[in-house]
Amino acid sequence: MSRLDGKVALISGAARGIGGETARLMAQVGAQIVVADVLDERGRQTVAAINAAGGQAEYAHLDVTKPEDWTAAVNLATSRFGKLDVLVNNAGVFIGKGIEEISLDEWNRLVAVNMTGVFLGTRLAAPALREAAKSSEHGSAIVNLASIAGIVGSQLDPLYSMTKGGVTLFTKSAALEFGRKGYRIRVNSIHPGVIQTDMGEQTFVARAQRTGSNDTTAVRQVVTDSVPWGRMGVPTDIAKGIVFLASDDASFMTGAGLVVDGGWTAH
Ligand code: NAI
Repeated sequence: MSRLDGKVALISGAARGIGGETARLMAQVGAQIVVADVLDERGRQTVAAINAAGGQAEYAHLDVTKPEDWTAAVNLATSRFGKLDVLVNNAGVFIGKGIEEISLDEWNRLVAVNMTGVFLGTRLAAPALREAAKSSEHGSAIVNLASIAGIVGSQLDPLYSMTKGGVTLFTKSAALEFGRKGYRIRVNSIHPGVIQTDMGEQTFVARAQRTGSNDTTAVRQVVTDSVPWGRMGVPTDIAKGIVFLASDDASFMTGAGLVVDGGWTAH
């Protein structure tokens, strides 16, 4: 397992799910963490669990669509832990509606969280990441949560897929821009397959509703059967990939996408 000793990380959407597990794992392998989310109570519980296990974490209220919240979260990292080495743009939402069903308000919400949130986080954390990189042998890192739906099309949620496709290419473009500017900030994306979280559950409900049912049991079996590795993913599967991309073990990786999907996109 890659180590993050001495690193400070800010993770958006870290109250629960993949972000929560990433916070727990990063703390376990030596990082100090700012857990940031709109779910304040759940976020504080995540922080309390990390600290109770001997880690070091703080909570920041962060709506990723709001620049002032990003500024406050970055300031918390630098004031409490002295610097910021790692940003994980993890917060995301899923709608599960087709092109003809989604409302304009729902689309705007998808774009605001999944794309504007990643752009703002990247822009507003960059100065602190750049500063930390000056005294780090291998520089700083940003890890963006894209999806398999950012690589191949999604008939379940084409608009979600559009936002994740945007994150996939923004990752590469940001890597190029920061490389050109000599910032020493690596930027990579991770592409989870179907992962059992609240959002994963939302995707099962959306699939079931396509067949006119609310029963997700059959859907789970169909999804499981379609994964070459034979099981659905769990948050730890993705957290391990994020830790690797954030660590110095990935020091020659930038602009890359790490697919963690049990083989889903292999066919
Ligand atoms: P989740 O729904 O369990 O957690 C998402 C977190 O983001 C929640 O804590 C939520 O409060 C937070 N969030 C939502 N809007 C926010 C906002 N405006 N500001 C700050 N935080 C906000 O979802 P999960 O599964 O943990 O997803 C994490 C990331 O992984 C997302 O970007 C998602 O698109 C991506 N992903 C998830 C997959 C899955 O099957 N679960 C598959 C592929 C990608």
